[in-house]
Amino acid sequence: MVEEVSEQKIIRRIRTYINGLDEHMEGGIPEGHATLISGTAGTMKSSVCFNILYNEALKGKKSLYVSLEQSYESLVQHMSNMRLNIHRIKLLPIKDLTKINEVVNKAKAGDTGSIIIADVGCIRNEIKDIKLGDNRSWLNVIKNIIKKMKADLNCDLVVLDSMSALYVLSRFENPRIELFYLFEFLKSMEITSYLISETTDNGAYSELGMEDFLADGIINLRLTPFRRNIVREIAIVKMRATDCNNDIFSLEFKNGQFQALYGGQNPLL
Ligand SMILES: Nc1ncnc2c1ncn2[C@@H]1O[C@H](COP(=O)(O)OP(=O)(O)OP(=O)(O)O)[C@@H](O)[C@H]1O
Ligand SMILES: [Mg+2]
Repeated sequence: MVEEVSEQKIIRRIRTYINGLDEHMEGGIPEGHATLISGTAGTMKSSVCFNILYNEALKGKKSLYVSLEQSYESLVQHMSNMRLNIHRIKLLPIKDLTKINEVVNKAKAGDTGSIIIADVGCIRNEIKDIKLGDNRSWLNVIKNIIKKMKADLNCDLVVLDSMSALYVLSRFENPRIELFYLFEFLKSMEITSYLISETTDNGAYSELGMEDFLADGIINLRLTPFRRNIVREIAIVKMRATDCNNDIFSLEFKNGQFQALYGGQNPLL
């Protein structure tokens, strides 16, 4: 006998804060999903992810941005250039992992939302103290920061920028197995994660050819030549548990706002 599922679980969603795109995926990405934000260089992957955390922080949320490609200073400089008013939230760099409790206390103080940033420098300093030769330590340090943020701050939004940098730094012995357990870890932590994945123009959404089916969702960004212009484009390639529109949209960024336009149509140039 087939048992019918009588009650449909209500899925809470987190907006991408890209106007015109959230409307095409039932309002946003389901909570707890691990989503690949894939794209070629300079397609605004980091900006899209930071903008999500920024807007969630405006609502009082605390989240974690693991920046393995850019230093804290360079990331913040870029976001200020994009006219995100970073003074409306708390930006808290982890300068020294041995003093992580100071960052936790600052995030806890008051109702203002925060983005805690762990950059490559702070993680590298920690690795120096771990016995050399443990080539999985990068991933272990990152996992420990995520665990700590979840336990102490109930921080359940994490950006990992980028998977490509993680592969270079970690020198996994068996990348496919390590990757499988990374996704298992993110699921077990019940956090919503955005995993930035650098791609080339060969049409693949991931580097190891495995992230795309392990991930719950894939959002792809690209730069496409159109006549003598380059158009920024975005598409929801997949989003589990979501009725979504897979059309390709133009992506615009104006006055501190992302906008997806002309889904399925030629851009109006
Ligand atoms: N208002 C703006 N302020 C700053 N950069 C902007 C703005 N609008 C568009 N950009 C573009 O954003 C791009 C960089 O964005 P971002 O760093 O988020 O991209 P990325 O995909 O993460 O790049 P990378 O591959 O280097 O990690 C630059 O190419 C820049 O031209
Ligand atoms: Mg980037």
